[in-house]
Amino acid sequence: AAAPVAGNKRVLLAAPRGYCAGVDRAVIAVEKALEVHGAPVYVRKEIVHNRHVVDSLSERGVVFVSELDEVPEGAVTVFSAHGVSPAVVADAAQRNLQTIDATCPLVTKVHREAVRFAKQDKQILLIGHEGHEEVEGTYGEAPEHTIVVNDVEEARTVQVEDPDNLIWLSQTTLSVDETLEIVSVLRERFPNLQDPPSDDICYATSNRQAAVKVISPEVDLMIVVGSANSSNSVRLKEVSLEYGAARAERVDFAHQVDESWFEGVATVGLTSGASVPEVLVQDVLALLADYGYADVDEVVTAEEDIMFSLPKELRAELKRIG
Ligand code: F3S
Repeated sequence: AAAPVAGNKRVLLAAPRGYCAGVDRAVIAVEKALEVHGAPVYVRKEIVHNRHVVDSLSERGVVFVSELDEVPEGAVTVFSAHGVSPAVVADAAQRNLQTIDATCPLVTKVHREAVRFAKQDKQILLIGHEGHEEVEGTYGEAPEHTIVVNDVEEARTVQVEDPDNLIWLSQTTLSVDETLEIVSVLRERFPNLQDPPSDDICYATSNRQAAVKVISPEVDLMIVVGSANSSNSVRLKEVSLEYGAARAERVDFAHQVDESWFEGVATVGLTSGASVPEVLVQDVLALLADYGYADVDEVVTAEEDIMFSLPKELRAELKRIG
């Protein structure tokens, strides 16, 4: 049995949390594609990095593939929110695929920056996680001009061609603090390093981290709902530990929450990554109530009202069928 808890059991629920505008748009794009074209609709990679979303769409006739050679000639194919490199776009054209590009507009913005700075013959230091789909896509815009910088260690050792002709860009879902640290290490070595024209880490990533920073010092246990391959969800867990949460756990589903985590816990923090449907958070809240944590205080640190219109291929199609 859990040890007696000092103080009242309560939940601090972070806001904003969950779906960002880019994820919302990408998921709706796939649903509309199913409506308009019928199953199967192919999606290259996971449309967003969330187990529940991918499983539910699979049940409705979406086929997730890791590469385009798994898609039959001419089929309807959606590019995921994380974006694709020009090589993938060209490959799709060659296969006559009917593509719908659900790349988040904030990722597209970074792609455009990469193209623009490569044209100016600058070398781009792309801060991000090698192997993540978004980094593959952005890198692919200007591979000759781009070096991926994974972490502080790489910032200390990366070799550049001309220290006076450098710009940094980043993945949209990184830790704000860690990125600042990487940039400061780079700038120490390359004082003329140019900043991107605007933040590459997106509003949703920074807002979710900011909310977690506010509640973390008060929580004994932080629960982050999000998938293991979701960059921004994993960052939320790290940030909460850095900002004072005694313990932090990431779960995909409420049933993964372990009773043993609650020993001696008075205050539970709860948040979710940008690819996580709210229903999964509500499931955790219901479970917490069962454990006696029924007193829920939502801590709101920002309001979000950003919305993106659907991919243009889909808008055209929806218009056509009225
Ligand atoms: Fe876009 Fe940021 Fe969401 S880049 S997909 S708004 S996490």
